[in-house]
Amino acid sequence: MNDYMIQLTKNPIITKLIKKIGLPNPPVELHRNNNPWEERPFNDQPVVIGQMSKTAITKTLAETIAKGGGNPFIENDDDILNIFSEVGHGYGRLPQMLVQGELPEKLTPKMLIFDASNIQKPEDLNQVYAFFKNHLRSLAICGRVVIVSRPPDTQKDISTAAASRALEGFIRAMAREIGFKGATANIVYVAPDSENRLEPVIRFLLSERSAYITGQPINVNNQVISDEPIPKMRPLDGKTALITGAAQGIGAAIARTMAREGAHVIIMDRPGEDIPAGKLASEINGNLLFCDITEPSAGNKIVEMIQKNNNGLDIVVHNAGITRDKLLINMKPDIWDQVLHVNFRAILNVNEKLLSIMRSNGRIVCLSSVSGIAGNRGQTNYSTSKAGVIGFISALAPKVSEKGIAVNAVAPGFIETQMTAQIPFATQLVARRLNNLNQGGTPDDVAETITFLCSPGAYGITGQVLRICGGALIGA
Ligand code: NAI
Repeated sequence: MNDYMIQLTKNPIITKLIKKIGLPNPPVELHRNNNPWEERPFNDQPVVIGQMSKTAITKTLAETIAKGGGNPFIENDDDILNIFSEVGHGYGRLPQMLVQGELPEKLTPKMLIFDASNIQKPEDLNQVYAFFKNHLRSLAICGRVVIVSRPPDTQKDISTAAASRALEGFIRAMAREIGFKGATANIVYVAPDSENRLEPVIRFLLSERSAYITGQPINVNNQVISDEPIPKMRPLDGKTALITGAAQGIGAAIARTMAREGAHVIIMDRPGEDIPAGKLASEINGNLLFCDITEPSAGNKIVEMIQKNNNGLDIVVHNAGITRDKLLINMKPDIWDQVLHVNFRAILNVNEKLLSIMRSNGRIVCLSSVSGIAGNRGQTNYSTSKAGVIGFISALAPKVSEKGIAVNAVAPGFIETQMTAQIPFATQLVARRLNNLNQGGTPDDVAETITFLCSPGAYGITGQVLRICGGALIGA
């Protein structure tokens, strides 16, 4: 499951040879962080901030960077400087000014942020262009770019809404241009009155936990009602999480990551997966539950087990899934039905029962797929089931938001697991390269993202699909 091209680049002689004979650049090994969440993930790195003028989120940005341990560099504006100085003072993170808009020589910032939340008209896009034209070249290997703006559909003025939407095209294209150096670019649309929900989202996107998320919009809103504290470390302490299909692959990575962050994990898988599931349970001190999710009694079984242990449920990850690929004209009814049953209908059935024992501030995450967004040849069954899951989370999210429950889906692209190892070798080679970052993702990339979505700080995100696909060239 290793990407041999990345392994080759670890040898400097081979890297030199590749350059000398003019072969295309091999992919950069992404900087990832799979250690426990920390107080200051920005690690004293420089962060360059561009703004059109002071906005309602300037202070949030200053706090996010100071609390996260970043060193801010800002452009010359007294109002903005005052805010960054006031906030930074308390954390020993005073801002440095860019001299005539230029970075100090040899500075390679790890993070570039542009606050475009007060964009008014298409002409204002020129300022966004100028900022990135000026600084993008210096962005460090595996750097992060984030633009913040207001959701187009909350703008009353037509040209303001259009200009906000244009930023999405800008970020998607920029993400394609910087992917070769392992860098990512995303846009966060924060709804009015939701500014206080922005910090954890930016913290995640700027961190090394979001290594395989690039070229997409993320909406932050105030639909989910919550008064839960937002810890910076061990965010899942005291939570009980059920993960279906957790014996191997992505599910096992989610179980390990959530346990690392304090959750008590219930590992659920099919009868017959006892050995890997049992090993995992003893490794993370979790509970085991063997049950086929397509059994009509699956939901009741889980509820009974959780109630027997006097627990409620805080987190559900609907991860179990299968593929049975065939062109539609050759697809027998049994494989059409199996895939729709496991990946889609079972989720709806089981979830209905689980809602009755879910505590407030809960989180539900479903595994969709880029195939559910873009469709995939030979996967009418799989793509239908994974698109159905997206319909499910969109419809459910507003119904449970008052209980403080957020419901989202993730759509992985090509992730290196046993499922994808079974794909024909040549197809694997191509699939791995069809994204901005020129490589496959890892189960940990998916696990870190889902853990973030299940943390208290992600209460601004609900009813959304977060792609974990390295900016796949095909699909949304
Ligand atoms: P995997 O095949 O390695 O693991 C799936 C797990 O689900 C297995 O442990 C299996 O026993 C369990 N499972 C299957 N049917 C079940 C049933 N009826 N009841 C209970 N458990 C059942 O798959 P992988 O790669 O870890 O994928 C996990 C999820 O991520 C799936 O929903 C998959 O569709 C999705 N996904 C995976 C991608 C990839 O590149 N690996 C890409 C996009 C989505």
